[in-house]
Amino acid sequence: MELKLVFSITFLYCLSGVSSTSHYFTSMFSFGNSYIDTGNFVIMATPVMPVWIDKPPYGMTFFGHPTGRVCNGRVIVDFIAEEFGLPFLPAFMANSSSISHGVNFAVGTAPAIDSAFFKRNNIADKLLNNSLDVQLGWLEHLKPSICNSTDEANGASAGIGFKNYFSKSLFIVGEFGVNDYNFMWTAKKTEKEVKSLVPQVVEKITTAVERLINQGAVY
Ligand SMILES: *[C@@H]1O[C@H](CO)[C@@H](O)[C@H](O)[C@H]1NC(C)=O
Ligand SMILES: *[C@@H]1O[C@H](CO)[C@@H](O)[C@H](O)[C@H]1NC(C)=O
Ligand SMILES: *[C@@H]1O[C@H](CO)[C@@H](O)[C@H](O)[C@H]1NC(C)=O
Repeated sequence: MELKLVFSITFLYCLSGVSSTSHYFTSMFSFGNSYIDTGNFVIMATPVMPVWIDKPPYGMTFFGHPTGRVCNGRVIVDFIAEEFGLPFLPAFMANSSSISHGVNFAVGTAPAIDSAFFKRNNIADKLLNNSLDVQLGWLEHLKPSICNSTDEANGASAGIGFKNYFSKSLFIVGEFGVNDYNFMWTAKKTEKEVKSLVPQVVEKITTAVERLINQGAVY
């Protein structure tokens, strides 16, 4: 816990250093789970499972109404967006037409490892299809429309403009892993069994970051 806090403070400190050079990032894309979800879970889960975050007190202290955040106010990506003078990131599932400053792909309950793994091994059923790989797939699917609305004149269709656009974007990947381990605990797996998942979780996160870097992500 203490270690996590130190990392968070260091991270925010670095960001505030960057932002003092003014409007450094033109957009932001985030991947994760309920810590930073800004509405995807409610939209995905409502048709298939009980949802309670769509009612007060969620959203009460800042937005004045539930927004799909698992929080009474803003989540950390909201504060980061504010710091960089960007709008709050729309949830991918909201199908917003204003995506030129970024999108939030994070979904509550999302694991790092594909949901199919947990179903196949009878660890959990009734899971949403919202793992890290799926979230990356959503970004890749969305690229042509982000591209057209922001960077077409730069030769985006040739891929060059898009790399340029991504190089000025801030990417947030995580937190990931807590849901993978929670599914295991909930299925009454032993500590040893839970720990055996760590290399796969780490592998998923590193592969995802590399996949973003290969598409031009820098920050
Ligand atoms: C956005 O589109 C997806 C896929 O068509 C759909 O499942 C989802 O419900 C839509 N979101 C809203 C808020 O209508
Ligand atoms: C989950 O979504 C991905 C990409 O959208 C798709 O390829 C895959 O078949 C889906 N899996 C399930 C179990 O629906
Ligand atoms: C983006 O622009 C290209 C070329 O003009 C077009 O073919 C494509 O359909 C557009 N994509 C979207 C999502 O608007």
